[in-house]
Amino acid sequence: MKSDVPHRHLLGIEGLKREEVEHILDTAEAFFDVSRRPLKKVPTLRGKTILNVFYENSTRTRTSFELAGKRLSADVVNLSMAQSSVAKGESLYDTVKTLEAMRPDIVVVRHSSSGAPHFIARHVSHAVINAGDGMHEHPTQALLDAFTIRRARGNLDGVKIAIVGDIAHSRVARSNMLLLSLFGADIRLVAPRTLLPVGVERFGVRTFDRLEPALEGAEVVMALRIQNERLEGGGFLPSVREFSKRFGLNEAKMRFAQEDAIVLHPGPMNRGVEIDPFVADAARSRILDQVEAGVAIRMAALYLLAAVEERGV
Ligand code: CP
Repeated sequence: MKSDVPHRHLLGIEGLKREEVEHILDTAEAFFDVSRRPLKKVPTLRGKTILNVFYENSTRTRTSFELAGKRLSADVVNLSMAQSSVAKGESLYDTVKTLEAMRPDIVVVRHSSSGAPHFIARHVSHAVINAGDGMHEHPTQALLDAFTIRRARGNLDGVKIAIVGDIAHSRVARSNMLLLSLFGADIRLVAPRTLLPVGVERFGVRTFDRLEPALEGAEVVMALRIQNERLEGGGFLPSVREFSKRFGLNEAKMRFAQEDAIVLHPGPMNRGVEIDPFVADAARSRILDQVEAGVAIRMAALYLLAAVEERGV
């Protein structure tokens, strides 16, 4: 398998070229079937050490990075930061230098502060993967979303996608905008004005404060989680009920999209808020395909970065 993505770290979609994104997706295709075999393991990363360092909660990202590393035969260690010496006041710098001294090959980091993985990458000699930093980027999520769309549609060129919900606080929306704009996508962002970042149109996207016109002709509809933890006290929404009525995806609203439009959600879902359970579980939903794609994408990311490290780029 080709392994020539010339980056030491995967910190964001920003800075990736279209060919590099395609190469990661193609590499993930090559790994996809490993997880469907009775023996879900290949020897590709035997002898490599991966640390998962999550300062924020996660179900999908953390588990899929762990499975991805193990299915590639790497040694994988998960650190629960709530039970680490961070709880005793150890700084991010001291924590990452301590972990570096144990000679991992790749460290996967999730942090509530935007830029934390970039800070770490500047101070360590091993590879760093951003597993979601604050409101900034979530590159492997955008890659697995692209993988899911490509599998459903055949390619990503000019895809018409509506992204609905809390855009302002969403690293998923940002990484998706950066990635899909490399493919000339028609990106529509839909949210109450208070949840649309000022100047977001510079990403080449269109903004809407009503769902129906944004869904017109959409091939992909992505609902985002209402991030109660980041909205609290901010006066962003009159009420969750009002949001749900105007922006919640239900079958009636989905009729504005293309007949065969697919539905995505990065999870975790607030059923009955941003997405009706009927839509979440409908045949057009690709939400569990996204989860499955997540393992293959993370296998590809780990493999490609390990190969870069071996070549000493
Ligand atoms: N999509 C996503 O990042 O989910 P988790 O928070 O469960 O990892």
